[in-house]
Amino acid sequence: MRDGARVTIRPLTPADAALYPDFFAHVTADDLRLRFFAPIATLTPEMIAHFTHYDPAKAMAFIAIGGNGEMLGVARLHDDPDGKGGEFAVLVRSSLKGHGLGWLLMQHIIDYARRKGLASVHGEVLSENLTMLQMCRELGFGIADDAGEAGVKRATLKLGLA
Ligand SMILES: CC(C)(COP(=O)(O)OP(=O)(O)OC[C@H]1O[C@@H](n2cnc3c(N)ncnc32)[C@H](O)[C@@H]1OP(=O)(O)O)[C@@H](O)C(=O)NCCC(=O)NCCS
Repeated sequence: MRDGARVTIRPLTPADAALYPDFFAHVTADDLRLRFFAPIATLTPEMIAHFTHYDPAKAMAFIAIGGNGEMLGVARLHDDPDGKGGEFAVLVRSSLKGHGLGWLLMQHIIDYARRKGLASVHGEVLSENLTMLQMCRELGFGIADDAGEAGVKRATLKLGLA
């Protein structure tokens, strides 16, 4: 990361379910709201199963692991129904924000999408989430108002000719 600390980033597997309770315990309620657009009171086994089981033909998730084996962050990409683009989401352990991990995870998502041949990557970001919007701009995303939801921006990165 930017401070020189080392982190392992690899595809998320079902076995990583065991890491989720500790990870969520280290994410503030506000950061969870920024990620899920709603308060998350409890992390249920059903939610963990949903996060850790995905069809690799249509989705991808990268997990970041620290030196003690703890989960530090996660980024995911789910293909659009038409298979042309993919929607990203990213979440970093709150105490680790600002160390460059979100950036690294987004780079993995973008590289993966490019290798897969997707035409674009997009995500919905709350308008108040200035950190995420700024990071998206620096990564080359265009930002526009979301057509369907007030207070939400849509960040889009076209990959076609890169
Ligand atoms: C938004 C979020 C994912 C960002 O992750 P993060 O690890 O805190 O952010 P980073 O440290 O990687 O990047 C933030 C900053 O570093 C910059 N940066 C990081 N690494 C960089 C690099 N290698 N080169 C250039 N710029 C870099 C970013 O553009 C940004 O700039 P700033 O610090 O000057 O403001 C994280 O804060 C989070 O989990 N928030 C709650 C959930 C959320 O909002 N998710 C997004 C909704 S999909």
